[in-house]
Amino acid sequence: MSRLTPLRIHHIQIIMILVWLTVTSCKQPDDTKWQYTPDMADSPVPKAQMYPLDPPDGSVATTALIYSANEFDAEENFRDDYFKPPESREQFFQVRGEQLYATFCLHCHGPQGRGNGSMTDVFPRSPDLTDPIYVERKDGFFFHKITFGGLMMPSLGHAISDIERSMIIFHIRELQKAREKRDNPDQ
Ligand code: HEC
Repeated sequence: MSRLTPLRIHHIQIIMILVWLTVTSCKQPDDTKWQYTPDMADSPVPKAQMYPLDPPDGSVATTALIYSANEFDAEENFRDDYFKPPESREQFFQVRGEQLYATFCLHCHGPQGRGNGSMTDVFPRSPDLTDPIYVERKDGFFFHKITFGGLMMPSLGHAISDIERSMIIFHIRELQKAREKRDNPDQ
C-alpha cells in the first residue's frame, strides 16, 4: 500500500473540490441558492395558491370576490356602496378600522395618513393619503392597493380580510375628512 505524500493529499483535495462544485452546480435554473437538496417550494405538487380541482361545469361562484386586474379596473368594477358599512355598523367600522390601520399602515403612512410614519427613517416616504388626489379615488382603488400593494408597498391581502379592508378604507376616509376640517376650520 503506497503512502499518501503531501502532494497526493493536495490532489485529493483538488478532486474533492471539483466533485463538490459539480454536485452543487446541478441545480434547477429557478433555484435561488447553491444547494444540493432541492427546495421544497419547487416541488411539482400544486402550489398553495392553485386550486387543484376545476369547479364543476356550469357552476357559478356566488360568494367569491372577483379581483380586478389593476386599480383602475377595481375602481370601475366595485359599486360605490360596496365597501360602505350599514349605518348600524358604522361605529364598529370606525373603531376597528382605526385599530387595523394602526396595525398595518400607520408605521409607513403615519397616524394622520400623511406619509410620515416611523418607517420613513429607513424606507422611502409613502404618499399622503389625505391628498386631494386620494380623496377623489374610489374605494375600489384602496381595496386593490391594500390587496396587492404597490411598487414598494407590501401586499397585505393575505393578512387582512375583505371586510377588514373595507374598515381600513373607512378609516382613511375619516382621516381625509379630518384633514379637510383642519384646513378649513370655518366650514
Ligand atoms: C412598508 C411600508 C408601507 C405599509 C405597511 C403600507 N404602505 Fe401604502 N405605500 C407605501 C409606499 C412606499 C407607497 C408608494 C409607493 C408604492 O405605491 O408602492 C404606498 C402607497 C400607497 C397608496 C397609494 C398608491 C398609489 O398608487 O398612488 C395607498 C392608497 C396606500 N399605500 C395605502 C396603504 C394602506 C391602506 C396600508 C395599510 C393596510 C398601507 N398602505 C401600508 C408604503 C407602505
